[in-house]
Amino acid sequence: MRTIAIKTGKPYTVKLEQDALSQFVPLFQEVYGQRRPKLAIVTDDTVQALYAERLQQLLRQAGYETCCFAFAHGEASKQLSTVNEVYRFLFAESITRSDVIIALGGGVVGDLAGFAAATWLRGIDFIQVPTTFLSMIDSSVGGKTGVDTSFGKNLVGAFWQPTLVVCDPLTLETLPDEYYRDGIAEAIKDGAIMDAELFAIVERGQLKERLLDVIERCIDLKREVVEADERDHGVRQWLNFGHTLGHAVEKESNFCISHGKGVSIGMALVCAAAENAGITPAGTGARIAACCAQYQLPTTTDIPLKTLCTHALGDKKRKGANLTLVVLEQLGKAALHTLPTDALLSFLEGSHV
Ligand code: NAD
Ligand code: GLY
Repeated sequence: MRTIAIKTGKPYTVKLEQDALSQFVPLFQEVYGQRRPKLAIVTDDTVQALYAERLQQLLRQAGYETCCFAFAHGEASKQLSTVNEVYRFLFAESITRSDVIIALGGGVVGDLAGFAAATWLRGIDFIQVPTTFLSMIDSSVGGKTGVDTSFGKNLVGAFWQPTLVVCDPLTLETLPDEYYRDGIAEAIKDGAIMDAELFAIVERGQLKERLLDVIERCIDLKREVVEADERDHGVRQWLNFGHTLGHAVEKESNFCISHGKGVSIGMALVCAAAENAGITPAGTGARIAACCAQYQLPTTTDIPLKTLCTHALGDKKRKGANLTLVVLEQLGKAALHTLPTDALLSFLEGSHV
């Protein structure tokens, strides 16, 4: 089984293998030994119907006490009222500090269940079992947990690392393409910011053929930035390439444009602007846009740049009078570019000449 050790303040491993879910019990025992905590699965209704019963069966057969809570799937559930329902469930099931939450699902489940774990009884263990491409390559690793608020996405949260990540690409066989694509945008981003060879694999259309290699490489890149900057003050910000404008597109579309599509538009816009400013070599944005287009990810928008700037300036990455954008020094090498907020529009207008 492929194993990636994440050496954060609280270290843990990611286990990656086709059908790893069926190995959940021995993988759990590698971490917890003979301990017999109660295992509370938190998931969404779609994933519950597909995978929760099987996981509970495995756990029960091995003699573990388990329980399961499912909320309605989708980003709209990623809010404090759902966390409150999870707390109610944890209380009803008498989940104590020595018990463990299993987040079974995509990034919404991982973020929300992780936040519940970070805050229930001031913090209990949790395990990530990601079932979307995005959650396998990105959100299940690194310990960012949280929920959205009415004022913006991911504004309330905690850094709380899991104790184990079990990644089973077989679960992707049931994932609708629409959601797969959101993760593909993040894989393109990972290649663009840190690994030209990874980018080339995706660009050559070999993503599914080399799925485990791609997942492993993306996780390893995330490991590198998270180990260097667990709390997101420096290089971890590279992971936000395309995200400031991507979030603006998502928000302006009232979340009708998905995260992955927003990110692909954001990467293309910021790249074109940075090319125009002489930061990024000419032609880089066109290569990224062509790669995105191959996976039916859009790279243009009718939303006026001025509107995108208004949203971008409300982003949590703004620091006082400055905003830091992630740009490419070359394909495979990111850099941070800080500019005064009042210069953002003219910087981006470079993308339209
Ligand atoms: P998601 O969790 O909403 O999952 C997408 C859809 O796929 C859902 O309807 C879900 O029910 C369904 N689904 C999940 N697994 C399935 C499977 N195997 N088969 C069939 N259907 C399945 O979305 P996502 O793209 O996984 O995650 C997006 C979220 O992740 C956002 O909230 C974003 O903010 C967050 N995120 C967090 C981090 C982080 O570091 N914490 C990083 C990136 C994104
Ligand atoms: N997905 C961004 C981060 O983990 O920092």
